[in-house]
Amino acid sequence: MSDIMIIRPRRLRINQKMRDLIGETVLTKNDLIMPLFVDENLNTGKKEIPSMPNQYRFSIDGVVEECKYIADLGIPAVILFGIPKYKDEIASSAYDKNGVIQKSIRKIKDEIGDELLVIADTCLCEYTSHGHCGLINNNKVLNDETLEILSKIALSYAESGVDIVAPSDMMDGRVGKIRETLEDNGYKDVVIMSYAAKYASSFYGPFRDAAESSPKSSIKDRKTYQMDYRNSREAMREIELDIKEGADMILIKPAISYLDILKMAKENFNIPIGAYCVSGEYSMIEAAAQRGWLNREEAIMETLLSIKRAGADFIITYWAKEVADNFNIFNI
Ligand code: PBG
Repeated sequence: MSDIMIIRPRRLRINQKMRDLIGETVLTKNDLIMPLFVDENLNTGKKEIPSMPNQYRFSIDGVVEECKYIADLGIPAVILFGIPKYKDEIASSAYDKNGVIQKSIRKIKDEIGDELLVIADTCLCEYTSHGHCGLINNNKVLNDETLEILSKIALSYAESGVDIVAPSDMMDGRVGKIRETLEDNGYKDVVIMSYAAKYASSFYGPFRDAAESSPKSSIKDRKTYQMDYRNSREAMREIELDIKEGADMILIKPAISYLDILKMAKENFNIPIGAYCVSGEYSMIEAAAQRGWLNREEAIMETLLSIKRAGADFIITYWAKEVADNFNIFNI
């Protein structure tokens, strides 16, 4: 052994200070977006979501209070999802001027102003009786007809004062249509955050329970519009199209099983790229932690840091509030 010089990378892991000194990846409050569900059926307060421990559906007043708390923590943005009182075939409650999200946006902006960015998820599935993200006819999801509805939804959010609209439907041409509608109506500063590469994933399970948005028609899944998880180059094509159509930033979704896509996107495109750490990724760790099968805080930080390491400029995560609120516990 004496004549062989051992190269010792372990020197740099010798103690916490040494590790902190050379650590490449950081997570700050500024990287976080908190998803919130607003339920029109609730008059006050909030109600826990059974499949997502510590996550709630809020009443409109409840969500305003929650947003104040989140803004005070220093988190820059929330993304809102609505559960309407009324659903139909054409998602008309999604573009109602007095819909649950429109009312929430107005109240949050009235009370908090520019201290918190409000993002509105722009989709049909929570508002359609069949649970699909597009209009349906003859057992087919209709692309172009859906664009009309999506642009009406985006416009009504813009009229309510939203900062960012986030189309999550995966129809072709939606970003272009929304951009055109916003421009035509004078909303030139509304940002489009496109879910550009959104995969048909089983990790959305708890969300669909929370938002009551599971497909209920004879078309049982979203595989004709969301992406096939066998493909990566197709994601680059989707991103390229969304940028051409006018997206300001894009999302990769889900996150943990798609870190390769995130990294590839970061290497190929120069606009801000976020990752959505989705409901199933959240509940999976929460469930294992409840059983004592892993260290919850460590697993959360490992998950979020790996998403940053892969290249995310920001992360939508159900842990945003807790992580920002407990910086010391999480040691960041
Ligand atoms: C709406 C939408 C979904 C999610 C975000 N926007 C559900 C879906 O596509 O079925 C999932 C988010 C999550 O699982 O946390 N289209």
